[in-house]
Amino acid sequence: MPSETQLKSHGGPARPLSAVGATAFRGAIRVPGDKSISHRALIFGALATGETRITGMLEGEDVLNTAKAMAAMGAAVERDGRDWVVRGRGTGGLVQPDGDLDFGNSGTGVRLVMGAIAGHPIAARCVGDVSLSSRPMRRVLGPLSEMGLLTEPADAARLPMTLKGSDRLVPMTYTLPVASAQVKSAILIAGLMTRGATTVIEPEPTRDHTERMLSYFGAEIDVGDTAEGRCIVLNGPAELTGRPVHVPSDPSSTAFPVAAALLVPGSDLTVQGVLANPTRTGLYTTLREMGADLTMENVREEGGEPIADVHVRASSLKGVTVPPERAPSMIDEYPMLAVIAAFADGTTRMEGLGELRVKETDRLAATADGLSANGVDVSIDGDALVVRGNGGAARGGGTVATHLDHRIAMAFLVMGLASERPVTVNDATPIATSFPEFEDLMTGLGAQFSPCEARA
Ligand code: S3P
Repeated sequence: MPSETQLKSHGGPARPLSAVGATAFRGAIRVPGDKSISHRALIFGALATGETRITGMLEGEDVLNTAKAMAAMGAAVERDGRDWVVRGRGTGGLVQPDGDLDFGNSGTGVRLVMGAIAGHPIAARCVGDVSLSSRPMRRVLGPLSEMGLLTEPADAARLPMTLKGSDRLVPMTYTLPVASAQVKSAILIAGLMTRGATTVIEPEPTRDHTERMLSYFGAEIDVGDTAEGRCIVLNGPAELTGRPVHVPSDPSSTAFPVAAALLVPGSDLTVQGVLANPTRTGLYTTLREMGADLTMENVREEGGEPIADVHVRASSLKGVTVPPERAPSMIDEYPMLAVIAAFADGTTRMEGLGELRVKETDRLAATADGLSANGVDVSIDGDALVVRGNGGAARGGGTVATHLDHRIAMAFLVMGLASERPVTVNDATPIATSFPEFEDLMTGLGAQFSPCEARA
């Protein structure tokens, strides 16, 4: 069982931080492991028999909360040197937790674990921080309750709530009404504990780590294309066997040093071993369209996932239109892209961003507010974000409210590295949910941060 200090949830006072400038970002770095893959390795390890050794797992608060939840439901989860080792209970083997399961800030953690709880005859109360407690859960609870999950209160839509699973779950066929890998994954995970075929159809492809890893752990899972979209069929009950998992660097965390290197003159940076799964690389496609000197080098495969080294040099950028169908492959990267767009020449229009409204905060509003506070010409047009760049350094000088959102915090700190005046975020603590090394890593590359009193 991981120790309390390893698993501490962030809380306490806000920590304002300013980004005041940077020297050129040069050299080769690695960023921490992919958050999506880390969550899944812990959950599938706990549902497998035998040992799952996880190398390169992200030790951010979100993932550590998932580790703690799986340990509370009977899996043995331990740090072993730099690896994490999970000894699982087998599908159907999770036990009733003694206390609340606290998922902190993590929508992925709680929604995927809901799928696991659903297939066990246990009751578990799930809680989270203020941000997570305001996020919609019906998108997952709707289909899971059709399979047999009960909640208390019966019509629960947000945390906290108690989930009452069952060992008599029925499989279902479900077409995703929103492009969400979390919803897809929760249903497939519940399907592991049913008798028969659980089918998920996704009209727009979303990240496919669940399908890849479940197949790697031995589940019978078929993926095909149909007229309605990608169709994933899982045959239950499934037996999973623990396997070693190597977690590649997170392309969403990579976005921050890459953006800094693009914007800070003279930079030439390589981020090594980055997950290059095409369901995750929309930002990199977009940056190349904007004229970025960015290449994916040394493309190879490790542990069933493509990885590459991302090589980027400071570049002059131009505005582009980012089509809505690209949104799922870069859904977490829009705050960073919007900041980059402020430095580009011309207008960048990012379309199909409705899902940003239900992330750790309303990211569409938080991004637009942060840009305006720093003198950028920005507007929201329906579910599109429109940024009119000035082809040079953004003005900066503003204070940005992060609303417990790690990516808002990091995106605007990157802005301050290249803007005319410093940019302040009112609270940098959420960064620890996904990228605890962010400040040290960026400082080592040439970023200058300064603690300060936020004005707003
Ligand atoms: C994730 C899926 C995405 C993403 C989140 C991680 C996952 O959410 O925003 O950070 O690991 O499945 P949605 O699937 O709800 O879009």
